[in-house]
Amino acid sequence: MDKDKGVYAIVQFSETESIQSALSCVEHKMKGLKVRVKPREKKEFKLIPKKKNDPQNLQQVLNRLTPELCQQASVDAQMKYIVERFQLGENEKKARSLLVQLLQEVFVEFFPDSQILPFGSSVNTFGIHSCDLDLFLDLENTKVFQAQAKSSTEQAVEGVPDDGRSEDSILSDIDLSTASPAELLDLVATILIRCVPSVHKVHAVSTARLPVVKFHHRELNLQGDITLNNRLGVRNTRFLQLCSGVEERLRPLVYTIRYWAKQKQLAGNPSGAGPLLNNYALTLLIIFYLQNCDPPVLPTVDQLKDMACEEEECEIEGWNCTFPSQPIAVQPSKNTQDLSSLLSDFFSFYAKFDFASSVISLREGHALPIVNFLSQAKEDETMQEENPTKAHPHRPKLGPLNLLDPFELSHNVAGNLNERALRSFQKECQEAEKYCRSLQYQHKSTKGKPWGLLRLFTPHVDVQHNKPEQLTIDIPFKATSLPEVLRDEPHVAGDAFRLPWFQKVCSSVEVVLKTVLKCHVDAPKEGLCREDAAVDAEDMETTSASISASLNDSTESVESQNEATPSSAAVVGAKRPLSSGSDSSVSPHGKKPRLAKRRRPQIPPWTCVQKHVVWAGRRKVRRELVKDADCKPEGSCVELESQVTAYIAEKEPELREPLEFKVQLLMVGGTESTRALLKLEPSSDKAGVFQDFFHFLEGFLPKMVETVLQKEGRQA
Ligand code: UTP
Repeated sequence: MDKDKGVYAIVQFSETESIQSALSCVEHKMKGLKVRVKPREKKEFKLIPKKKNDPQNLQQVLNRLTPELCQQASVDAQMKYIVERFQLGENEKKARSLLVQLLQEVFVEFFPDSQILPFGSSVNTFGIHSCDLDLFLDLENTKVFQAQAKSSTEQAVEGVPDDGRSEDSILSDIDLSTASPAELLDLVATILIRCVPSVHKVHAVSTARLPVVKFHHRELNLQGDITLNNRLGVRNTRFLQLCSGVEERLRPLVYTIRYWAKQKQLAGNPSGAGPLLNNYALTLLIIFYLQNCDPPVLPTVDQLKDMACEEEECEIEGWNCTFPSQPIAVQPSKNTQDLSSLLSDFFSFYAKFDFASSVISLREGHALPIVNFLSQAKEDETMQEENPTKAHPHRPKLGPLNLLDPFELSHNVAGNLNERALRSFQKECQEAEKYCRSLQYQHKSTKGKPWGLLRLFTPHVDVQHNKPEQLTIDIPFKATSLPEVLRDEPHVAGDAFRLPWFQKVCSSVEVVLKTVLKCHVDAPKEGLCREDAAVDAEDMETTSASISASLNDSTESVESQNEATPSSAAVVGAKRPLSSGSDSSVSPHGKKPRLAKRRRPQIPPWTCVQKHVVWAGRRKVRRELVKDADCKPEGSCVELESQVTAYIAEKEPELREPLEFKVQLLMVGGTESTRALLKLEPSSDKAGVFQDFFHFLEGFLPKMVETVLQKEGRQA
């Protein structure tokens, strides 16, 4: 039925002939009234691509903001203006709350005693005009109701009257205590479709971490999500509300940073799932940064717990969710920084943050070493093996960015992020940090030019990969590729894990270049960092050992010829203590080295030669070699990739002139994300193929190195 106006219905037939006979009837009547019956029109559905995140569209929105932002007196005023401009207005809040009320009335008809509770941006004080409406349909009381109704029906049979409420309820068709989440979602979807005016585009997504029914409200032009199991979401929304109430600088910061992240395409996955940060995760990153300011702007979650009184104690699904209900219970911060400096310090904080080795904990207010989590995972595995039937604690899914939910400590809220998304986030933080040091950020232009936040908000455009400085390949640290011996060691923290990892990466890069891609690799026999230590290129073990020897001997290592970014710090050889966040700006003798020249463990450049176009047509060759190529994605198997190269080398003619290039390996970490950097530079490229080879390596090498590391780990 058309639930809005009740003027039409769509009838679906199970057999085509029935349609024919219905249509052949000259006149249809229903309860004495004429009914017009016609075949359903089949309209072509055109997919209109969403323009929301198109850079041009983002620029247009920014253009509309420009005059107002330019006129503001200071960056602080600009940030407050951003809140004014984007926050939900009173009417919008009212409309949302009326819709919640309407949904409540409908659902309670079908699910007696159920409750519909809003959470997320509509109510967490960070909502913007177009934000979605997140709802939790709490059926706990309905389950109790149903259980009671059931037992009273049984008694009624024996002569006890029931209260009659369950008679017409949809509950008679479904047992809430045994129904699967998918069945419940379907039921909710059906109720929305049939009974809530203006609600359309309803569909259930039961595969999400939290299964959800999505809908759209036509009149309010509002996207809504209903989940059935999200008490924690409602509670963490209360936590965000509390933080806003405690610290008035939080909202301008969150609105500004969310807008910056949107413009740079760093956060907000349009379809819900995706590799970018979600807004909740971004907000938690801001709160974590504020906990780490000096003095702190916000207390840790553990400190908040201690400020709560007995009545405020709260536990949900076994997680402690206690915090004060009123901001008044929290002491104001001693930090007096203004908004503009808090914003620029946010960028500096994450520009240098070592994501690879950290698990961010808002509960404790500091980063926990990732190696602690690895040993926990190992313990879990052992426990599971010993006692497979027992329920074991869940551990967060580790990834490039590890950000623990403040309450559900087994949930990494940034677990969906991929390497690329994290790299973009950190790179944009570095760019923003640089910009915030400029006069353009700090001072209003007297000539009406864009200043302050405006340049920060310029939409992200994809940069071409042909600039010379981009001939660098990153191999990010992955905890799983740590040597086994270190993974088993529960207390290895700080920098001690990086060096052995880097050694393994160097060896693996060599294996990929030599064995997989059939390059000739000439690694200097003498001297790594001091240019006098040996690398036996034939033998991975020896390579690893000699790299280690050389790196450990690198106290007097040559200064990096490859310019380090001013903010980057070296992780130094083992002769000096490997303390966390070590900064080599202080020399072993306590003297400052020359400005902006930092040391990093590095080995002397390798000279490599490639004679074949081993990057061209690999996918096709791979498909030919393996029938079911889907099972073996690119870079997932050393033997197969070696065969692919051998095949190309045999079938394709040699390059008219071999490509010669240098590879320089460097290790980064401590005050920035732990990773190995490979700098590639052509020394002879008469065939003009270096760019193509480099682009291929950019994607191929990190995956392949990972595969080699894992293979080696398994063999060990
Ligand atoms: P969102 O990431 O959608 O945040 O998560 P948001 O503030 O509502 O922003 P937009 O405008 O809709 O994008 C919505 C809520 O879902 C819960 C949190 O309560 C969050 O406020 N949530 C989200 C979690 O509990 N855990 C998560 O990992 C993600």
